[in-house]
Amino acid sequence: MRILITGGAGFIGANLAREIQTRFPSAEVIIIDDFSSGVSKNLEGFKGELIEGGVENENLIDSLNRKDFDVIFHLAAITDTTVDDREKMMRINVDGFKNILNLARKGRSQVVYASSAGVYGNGPIPMRESQKLSPLNAYALSKEKMDQMAMNFAREAGLKIIGLRYFNVYGRGEAHKGKSSSMVWQLACQMEQGKIPRIFKYGEQERDFIYIKDVVEATIRAMEVKESSIVNVGTGKKTSFNRIIEIINEVLGTDFKPEYFDNPYDFYQNHTQADTSLAERVLGFKAGWSIEEGIRDYILGRIF
Ligand SMILES: NC(=O)c1ccc[n+]([C@@H]2O[C@H](COP(=O)([O-])OP(=O)(O)OC[C@H]3O[C@@H](n4cnc5c(N)ncnc54)[C@H](O)[C@@H]3O)[C@@H](O)[C@H]2O)c1
Repeated sequence: MRILITGGAGFIGANLAREIQTRFPSAEVIIIDDFSSGVSKNLEGFKGELIEGGVENENLIDSLNRKDFDVIFHLAAITDTTVDDREKMMRINVDGFKNILNLARKGRSQVVYASSAGVYGNGPIPMRESQKLSPLNAYALSKEKMDQMAMNFAREAGLKIIGLRYFNVYGRGEAHKGKSSSMVWQLACQMEQGKIPRIFKYGEQERDFIYIKDVVEATIRAMEVKESSIVNVGTGKKTSFNRIIEIINEVLGTDFKPEYFDNPYDFYQNHTQADTSLAERVLGFKAGWSIEEGIRDYILGRIF
C-alpha cells in the first residue's frame, strides 16, 4: 500500500503518519510539507520519504503522478484562522487541494482530507453536516469551498473522497502552532509555568474538544468508508474554557483562577459541538477519550 500524507510535519499529520507506520508496517508512506507551520521535530522516528514543497506547486504535485497512491491524506493547509489574506488562503487551501484531487484522479487514489468545524460558524448546535454553513473567516470559507469542490469532483471523476470536519483537536505535537494551538495547550502551558491562565471574558465559550488519539483513529477509519461523504469528527460534547482550567488544575494539583480579557475578534465561534450520528454510521467512530481523560493523558505524557 502506498500512502501520501500532505502536511505530514504538522500536528495531526505527524501523529497520523506515526500511527499508520505502526499499524501498516509494510506501507510506503510519503510526506509532503513546506514547513510553513510544521516542524521537523514532529517527524522524529518517521521512516518514510519526505518531500519538501508546497501543495500549490502544480508541477511538483503532478510529478508525483507516477506513484499511484492508494490513499492520499490531505492535511496541508494554512491553519492560522486569523490570516485574512483571502487570496493566499484560497491559493494554498483551495488551489492546493485542486492539485491533490487531480493527482488522485490520475492515480485513482482514495482521498481523505481535512475540513473543519469552522464551516459552521456560529450556527446552531449540535452541528449537523446538513445544516446551513456560515463560515466567519477566510480560513472557514476556504474549507467550505474545499467541501464543495470535493463532492463535485467525487461525482465527476468517480473518486472516493472523504472530508473530515475536525472539531477542536488537542494533544501531543501541537506546540509549533503557537496562538493557533488548542486552548488546552495554551492554558496548560501558562499554568505549568505558574502563570495565571488568561481567557476571553467570561470563559463561557464552549468547544467540542477532541483528543488527537481519537482524531487519528477516525482519520484511519476513513480509509474503509465505502462512499464519498463529509462527516464531523468531534466528541458530541462541549466544554467551556472555564472548565478546561478546572480540569488542568485537577491534573496539575494547582488552584489557578482565570483572568478575563476582552475578545478582540469579531469572527469568533462561541460554541461548537458536533452531532456525531453520521460519523457513527459512516466511520463506525465514536470518540473514546473524555476531556478529563484526554487532558490527563496529554499532561502526564510530559508534553512540556
Ligand atoms: N487542529 C485542529 O483543531 C483542526 C481543526 C479543524 C481542521 N483542522 C485541519 O486539519 C489539518 C491539519 O491541521 P493541524 O492542526 O495539524 O495544523 P498544522 O499547522 O500543524 O499542520 C498543517 C501542516 O501543513 C503544512 N503546510 C501548510 N501549507 C502547506 C503547503 N502549501 N504545502 C505543503 N504543506 C503545507 C504545514 O507546514 C503543517 O505541517 C489542516 O487542514 C487544518 O485546517 C485542524
